[in-house]
Amino acid sequence: MASLTLLLIAFCLHCSASDAAGAFSVSDFGAIGDGRRYDTRPIQAAIDACAASGGGRVRFPAGGDYLTGTVFLRSRVVLQVDRGARILGGTREEDYPPESSRWYVVLAENATGVGITGGGEINGQGEAFVVRTDPRKNVMVSWNRTGACLGDECRARLVGFLDSKEIRVWDITLNQPAYWCLHLVRSNDIRIHDIAIYGDFNSPNNDGIDIEDSNNTVITRCHIDTGDDAICPKSLTGPVHNLVVTDCWIRTKSCAIKLGSASWFDFKSLLFDNITIFESHRGLGMQIRDGGNVSDVIFSNINISTRYYDPLWWGRAEPIYITTCPRDSNSKTGFISNIVFENISAVSENGVFLSGSRDGILSNIKFKNVNLIYKRWTTYSGGLYDYRPGCRDLVSHTTSGMMIEHADGLDLDNVSMKWFKSKVKDWSFPLIFKGATVNKLFFNDWNSEVVDVEGGVVM
Ligand SMILES: *[C@@H]1O[C@H](CO)[C@@H](O)[C@H](O)[C@H]1NC(C)=O
Ligand SMILES: *[C@@H]1O[C@H](CO)[C@@H](O)[C@H](O)[C@H]1NC(C)=O
Ligand SMILES: *[C@@H]1O[C@H](CO)[C@@H](O)[C@H](O)[C@H]1NC(C)=O
Ligand SMILES: *[C@@H]1O[C@H](CO)[C@@H](O)[C@H](O)[C@H]1NC(C)=O
Ligand SMILES: *[C@@H]1O[C@H](CO)[C@@H](O)[C@H](O)[C@H]1NC(C)=O
Ligand SMILES: *[C@@H]1O[C@H](CO)[C@@H](O)[C@H](O)[C@H]1NC(C)=O
Ligand SMILES: *[C@@H]1O[C@H](CO)[C@@H](O)[C@H](O)[C@H]1NC(C)=O
Ligand SMILES: *[C@@H]1O[C@H](CO)[C@@H](O)[C@H](O)[C@H]1NC(C)=O
Repeated sequence: MASLTLLLIAFCLHCSASDAAGAFSVSDFGAIGDGRRYDTRPIQAAIDACAASGGGRVRFPAGGDYLTGTVFLRSRVVLQVDRGARILGGTREEDYPPESSRWYVVLAENATGVGITGGGEINGQGEAFVVRTDPRKNVMVSWNRTGACLGDECRARLVGFLDSKEIRVWDITLNQPAYWCLHLVRSNDIRIHDIAIYGDFNSPNNDGIDIEDSNNTVITRCHIDTGDDAICPKSLTGPVHNLVVTDCWIRTKSCAIKLGSASWFDFKSLLFDNITIFESHRGLGMQIRDGGNVSDVIFSNINISTRYYDPLWWGRAEPIYITTCPRDSNSKTGFISNIVFENISAVSENGVFLSGSRDGILSNIKFKNVNLIYKRWTTYSGGLYDYRPGCRDLVSHTTSGMMIEHADGLDLDNVSMKWFKSKVKDWSFPLIFKGATVNKLFFNDWNSEVVDVEGGVVM
């Protein structure tokens, strides 16, 4: 053992120079990688030794399935999960710390200069948390027996960075989370790129990336295919500032990009560009419920297709869905202002929903070069405005191309709507304004047409 320690010290001189060849291998610390026996202790020992040496990389060699309970990432340590290696999250409650707020397979707390890479995979074994499979929506276990967590959403998340900074996650696959997948909390200076996230399409709460109370985040080249919301900024204890998401592909049975619904503080300076949203239940969404304000958000160069799925899932096939209203009678209402939708193309089974409320006006909303195509290709029923969670719940209504209420300053420039008559039943008007709540409307080059044949439109 002494010689091993010496060897490791020798390696460390090397590894602080961030040379991958000098990284700490979890195998050298006794990890077995057979996917059955727990490697939690050897993995943690490798991380701690690496941190103690000043930082570097902790390697998971190819060919291993490293089963583990929570491992704690330390400052200046990067996990390198080699291509062909997998970290498997434990499926027992005792694999995780007592406090449910720390239920993650990989967890960084108060860390600086941390990351995950290597080309391999972190897998939450989400299928082991399914109590009953249901093609509409799986029923999942809930670890709420001990009282550590209340409700039916008590399961381990996959990767969390809490109160951390200088975070980089790249070239890694995050697979089958049991609950939320990549969670960034009260953190700063975050780069996420070239990653793939796969969650079970029938399992609830397996969000892709949740950006909570965090600033200065760049997400680029991501592929997210999951059941629940894909990219989801939330504000619970502080605002979300400066988020850039580009070059991503998303499919979800919920909302592809969703601000909220936790929205106690502001969302400001966000850019979403060059994104494909495929067959999702909602495209670009804001669900503001708790008094935080949204401002300075750009959505550009985005292709969207949205369709209905089982109503057990939130979503009504809206390509764009903006709502702000008080969650309950004790809630405040947030304002939404300075929002741009530019170069957006959508094929959808429902219209655009732009809903402010009396104390939460939508202001200065601009649509430029927006091409909206409406048709139906599933048999789920439509005809509902969806104000959930809270607010007015579900309201029956005929479908329109764009429903607008409580807006002050809406600028439509080169917006086109095309309706496939034979495929769209029970639709009413291209535009519906509710009551006298819409002011300062600008139309320039606005077009609406009903077509009978599909023409060259490609789904
Ligand atoms: C993180 O830092 C905060 C503030 O310094 C401290 O209260 C908290 O206990 C730390 N958490 C951990 C897990 O070290
Ligand atoms: C525990 O979760 C189950 C669903 O899995 C739920 O029915 C039950 O109400 C929850 N119990 C508590 C105390 O939250
Ligand atoms: C994000 O920036 C805002 C505004 O400067 C600040 O109030 C907040 O504390 C910052 N949050 C973090 C996690 O750094
Ligand atoms: C848009 O993103 C895709 C990846 O999804 C990328 O291949 C393409 O180069 C990007 N386009 C531009 C103009 O950056
Ligand atoms: C959107 O579709 C158009 C036309 O097919 C294509 O030129 C463009 O690259 C697509 N953009 C994205 C982000 O998928
Ligand atoms: C949202 O903006 C309103 C109006 O400016 C302001 O009164 C309110 O405090 C803001 N909310 C938050 C959470 O800062
Ligand atoms: C929108 O598309 C036009 C034409 O392709 C282009 O000139 C413009 O820069 C695009 N806008 C944005 C915000 O990318
Ligand atoms: C209007 O928007 C369409 C895309 O929907 C674009 O192809 C066209 O160039 C735009 N027209 C002008 C004048 O910008």
